[in-house]
Amino acid sequence: MNEINQNISFSPIIVGTMRLGKWGANMTTSELENFIHQCLEMGLNDFDHADIYGHYTTEADFGKVLKNQSSLRDKMQLTTKCGIKLTSENRPTHKIKSYDSSKEHIIFSAESSLKALETDYLDVFLLHRPDYLLNPHEVAEAFETLKKSGKVKHFGVSNYTTSQFDLLHSFTPLVTNQVEISLLHLNAFDDGTLNQCLKHGIVPTAWSPLGGGAIFSDSEDATNQRIQKVANELSEKYKASLDQILLAFLYKHPAHIIPVVGTSKIERIESSLQASKIKLTHEEWYELWEAAIGQEVA
Ligand SMILES: NC(=O)c1ccc[n+]([C@@H]2O[C@H](COP(=O)([O-])OP(=O)(O)OC[C@H]3O[C@@H](n4cnc5c(N)ncnc54)[C@H](OP(=O)(O)O)[C@@H]3O)[C@@H](O)[C@H]2O)c1
Repeated sequence: MNEINQNISFSPIIVGTMRLGKWGANMTTSELENFIHQCLEMGLNDFDHADIYGHYTTEADFGKVLKNQSSLRDKMQLTTKCGIKLTSENRPTHKIKSYDSSKEHIIFSAESSLKALETDYLDVFLLHRPDYLLNPHEVAEAFETLKKSGKVKHFGVSNYTTSQFDLLHSFTPLVTNQVEISLLHLNAFDDGTLNQCLKHGIVPTAWSPLGGGAIFSDSEDATNQRIQKVANELSEKYKASLDQILLAFLYKHPAHIIPVVGTSKIERIESSLQASKIKLTHEEWYELWEAAIGQEVA
């Protein structure tokens, strides 16, 4: 039995925005508008942001679309994150890169994201990275203030270890731990993260589910070659693309991992959406696992 009801559900894939703005495709407002419309038409209403994307500019790029078409806002679920302080001309007071989960910074960040995204509420607000100086009392207070004011509906974390998650979750309910999971990054399967999500009924969301594109781009790498070989064979069997097989590997896990995909190509988003229909067998899953770790299981 799931311990708590999170009252939140995500679309089968979450659309990552990190590479849509200045850190990638650098879409114009009309390109972004088109992209958002097409995602919504496919039934994908979850968009993943962070204050820092594009050096603190991508939320505002997205916000321009919402400003032009405010009716879009209620059709989507917006996640954003705070807590990493980058040195940037857009944040001249930051002297060094650091993490900050103080009440003051959390509330400042939520207000800034609301403004940039041209909205008056966030669906999900995540602490982006564990802060060594995190005070759970203070975080819980900040979250309560934001929740009571209607500015944020749900809270979560990203890149938290299981003990960090346990600690904060005992002070304030968390709906997700967004962690890196892909065939190139398997830690969550072994370090208790997915078990913890299963135990508490929490949705694990997976960033860089295609290894940030590395599986496709580095063809000299031995791990990539092994993964591609197995994935290509499975692609033939399932009449699927390589991306779909790599995502099917995540969907097979009983914790119901939701991939946060990072492509800026709408046809790749469309293709990703079909991946949940591919049901790999246990052995096929382990073939991919074996290819990823370079040896058979013990
Ligand atoms: N919480 C965190 O700490 C954290 C960290 C990093 C990212 N994130 C979130 O996770 C999202 C996804 O991360 P990600 O972008 O690294 O994910 P990803 O989906 O693993 O990688 C996306 C990259 O792979 C490329 N790609 C996808 N399919 C391809 C194919 N068939 N052939 C060649 N290249 C392909 C994409 O290029 P094209 O655009 O050309 O398709 C893009 O550059 C981000 O947008 C962000 O929202 C969160």
